[in-house]
Amino acid sequence: MGAPAHPPPVLPPHVAVANHKGGVGKTSTTVGLAAAAADAGERVLVVDMDPQGNSTRRLRAQLPAALEDRAAASLAGVLPSPGRGEAARIVTSCGWSAPYSSRIDVLPSDLDLELLGLTAGLPGAERRLLRALTGVVDTYDLVLIDCPPSLLSHLTDNAWTASDYLVVPCEAEFESVQAARRVSERITRDRHNLNPDLSIAGIIPTRYRAALGVHRARLEDMAKISGPEAICPTRFPELAVMKTATEKALPLAECGSQGRDMAALFRDAYTWLRKRISHLQESAA
Ligand SMILES: Nc1ncnc2c1ncn2[C@@H]1O[C@H](COP(=O)(O)OP(=O)(O)OP(=O)(O)O)[C@@H](O)[C@H]1O
Ligand SMILES: [Mg+2]
Repeated sequence: MGAPAHPPPVLPPHVAVANHKGGVGKTSTTVGLAAAAADAGERVLVVDMDPQGNSTRRLRAQLPAALEDRAAASLAGVLPSPGRGEAARIVTSCGWSAPYSSRIDVLPSDLDLELLGLTAGLPGAERRLLRALTGVVDTYDLVLIDCPPSLLSHLTDNAWTASDYLVVPCEAEFESVQAARRVSERITRDRHNLNPDLSIAGIIPTRYRAALGVHRARLEDMAKISGPEAICPTRFPELAVMKTATEKALPLAECGSQGRDMAALFRDAYTWLRKRISHLQESAA
């Protein structure tokens, strides 16, 4: 028997950015890693699975101005009953002006995405994002899925079912580390019916202050969740420029020297994440 005429495409890694805690830097990490990957020449699809729509706004992905048209042009319009590959109809360009941003596309979110949970009881409902992404992802090198700050939620189930790996931004504070541990526990507990292949690729320390003994101690706690090798060696400091970039919806690299330093940290973190994913892929083969 000869080789098939069209071998299946090699799919890009699908990475969900998640933690069971709000405000720890999930969206900042999604956007920062997307910029780093695009700057390195990769094509990136950012999937905004948070009804807050923060990565949609920060990447300046344009939705229609008319309120009644917005949901239809977002994942809120696609996911209730998606055809295979239907996400293609809402792919939106990143609106930044930097040359590399032409390599970033967004599946935008809208508030109505919150309503998806109302139909969570339909058969296969947690596979709706996966179905909508079929074929759409083939031309990208990386898919990043920004998750809401919830754990037992239908949106999280859809994001995790569609993902190969999780990246967990985590402050070196007790409750943030606890929340990261709950993420790990849920993967273990629900692996058999949600996604048997899902694993934590990395925990990324955010708002880290090395001078604080308590932060160093919490970093050791993080290492117990998925092993020290899963802790990203790049620690993100608390810097006002993150808020500037957030507020203005600009790439960090366009926010002065502090922003360029932070963008460089995201490039380091992304280089590490790529190596980590390659290692996990080789171990699984
Ligand atoms: N390292 C940092 N230094 C200073 N501010 C930061 C840092 N990381 C994130 N922030 C700010 O903290 C706020 C929350 O960050 P972000 O929106 O990324 O968190 P999140 O986990 O996505 O929140 P949510 O759970 O609401 O989705 C934002 O205003 C962001 O600019
Ligand atoms: Mg967020």
